[in-house]
Amino acid sequence: MSRWSAPQRPMAAALMLLSTQLAVGACRRVPADDPVASAAATARSSPLVVPLRAPPDSAIPEGPLGTSIRRGHALLVATRDSLPDYVGNRLRCVSCHLDDGRRAYASPLVGVYARFPQYRARNARVNTIEDRINGCFLRSMNGRPLPLEGRDIHDITAYLAWISRGIPVGATVKGQGFVKLQPLPPDTVRGAASYASICARCHGAQGEGTVLAPPLWGPQSFNIGAGMARLRTAAAFIRHNMPFDNPGSLTDQQAFDIAAYVVSRPRPDFPGKENDWPNGDAPPDAAYPTKGASTHRTAATQQP
Ligand code: HEC
Ligand code: HEC
Repeated sequence: MSRWSAPQRPMAAALMLLSTQLAVGACRRVPADDPVASAAATARSSPLVVPLRAPPDSAIPEGPLGTSIRRGHALLVATRDSLPDYVGNRLRCVSCHLDDGRRAYASPLVGVYARFPQYRARNARVNTIEDRINGCFLRSMNGRPLPLEGRDIHDITAYLAWISRGIPVGATVKGQGFVKLQPLPPDTVRGAASYASICARCHGAQGEGTVLAPPLWGPQSFNIGAGMARLRTAAAFIRHNMPFDNPGSLTDQQAFDIAAYVVSRPRPDFPGKENDWPNGDAPPDAAYPTKGASTHRTAATQQP
């Protein structure tokens, strides 16, 4: 590779992008100071962002598709009662995907149908929406995957596609995922105290759940392989959504302290978890060591 080819190429790409933009009728303004750089930056960094908006239930069509959408919705709300063979705890999908998958920053499912297929580092594969649904059955629900040819996963997919209507493929929905927090060093002793005073009245002193709220740890909770078992994910969920009757009232530090306490408590194992992130790109808050990471580390420490 010659020495000038590296800088040359991105420059050529930027010029091409710029001329494409000018050609499509300058529908986007390019600031005058550095048109080449800003055209390239715009093309790289602005996925289409759309409001979180799902169609009303009253618009669900009549006929077999409508029946499937309604049944899929019911499965998310009454997951364990409807699918006892596939759910291994006392959670339901909407325990975390709040408001039937319509709540911002609670990993909303509005638009999710337009975000798959998707590459996921956790299994280093391109995942379909059905793979992703079954990921939550296996981990968040501590259960078993739904058969891909069965009616249940078709109905859940039909509901997810329905609440994703109107969201363009590849778009980002406002409030997608969880709120972004700057990681803070957590203190589980402070977390335990805050848990007892703020959370225990609904989730139980031992995290076992009550009639008011589902379990947070113990045998009836999500397993160690679940996204919610990761510190940053749990902190972000809790910061924005809990306590349920006064969301947003915690500080970031309190959310990290309480989340650290919750994820430090015992919960069901997830056999095979060491095979996650096989390429050694596990996130810093992964809840367990993985083989990929140890291969990665060994390679790095083998330097003389
Ligand atoms: C314990 C909380 C929890 C429960 C219960 C749960 N999920 Fe999830 N779900 C998550 C988290 C956390 C994520 C995303 C972050 C991650 O994967 O680390 C997620 C992501 C998803 C996604 C992808 C969302 C996106 O924007 O890409 C789908 C689809 C999904 N879940 C479906 C389900 C279904 C269906 C159920 C019920 C069978 C369910 N989930 C139950 C926590 C949960
Ligand atoms: C007023 C009662 C209430 C309080 C207080 C409360 N929660 Fe919740 N929490 C809920 C409910 C209800 C849900 C599930 C929503 C559903 O099923 O529709 C939930 C869901 C959750 C979930 C996801 C599901 C699960 O069980 O894993 C987590 C995590 C969570 N709460 C953590 C907390 C933490 C931490 C606190 C304290 C900061 C807290 N909650 C305070 C009622 C409460």
